[in-house]
Amino acid sequence: MLSPYEQIGGEKTVRAIVEKFYAKVQQHPLLAPLFPEDIQPVMERQYLFLTQFLGGEPLYTQKRGQPMLRARHLPFPITKKHAEAWLLCMHEALDEVGITGMVRNQIWSRLEMTAFHMVNQSDE
Ligand code: HEM
Repeated sequence: MLSPYEQIGGEKTVRAIVEKFYAKVQQHPLLAPLFPEDIQPVMERQYLFLTQFLGGEPLYTQKRGQPMLRARHLPFPITKKHAEAWLLCMHEALDEVGITGMVRNQIWSRLEMTAFHMVNQSDE
């Protein structure tokens, strides 16, 4: 059975998602202030992570070690509103890249779960 990574078209598609996604993040009033001006290194780490998350080669673990994503996000105040904003940017990126059908639903439910798992502050 093909992994979601293979089903969506591999490296080229993952790179396209990452590019569209961070362009949106940088335009989002709630998200942009959390990220450094030089977004390129963040994009590269997300590319490594998503490759692995979608069933491609474990690039993230090879280069950065265990993901432990929640721990890595603890330095940043992330509320439910941030998670929703993150998901909105990702939803639009997946739309623009043309990820549809069953594989979209599979990817989406895991991204939703992961995003809400990152919440570490309550909305004020
Ligand atoms: C890193 C924000 C959700 C994957 C980061 C960074 C921020 C951030 C501020 C650090 C950027 C830097 O290096 O300066 C958020 C917010 C989220 C969220 C506000 C809302 C819920 C997610 C989700 C995933 C993810 C759902 C995975 C599907 C990553 C990865 C890194 C990262 C892989 C790089 C970690 C590293 O190796 O240092 N995120 N994130 N994030 N985020 Fe998120």
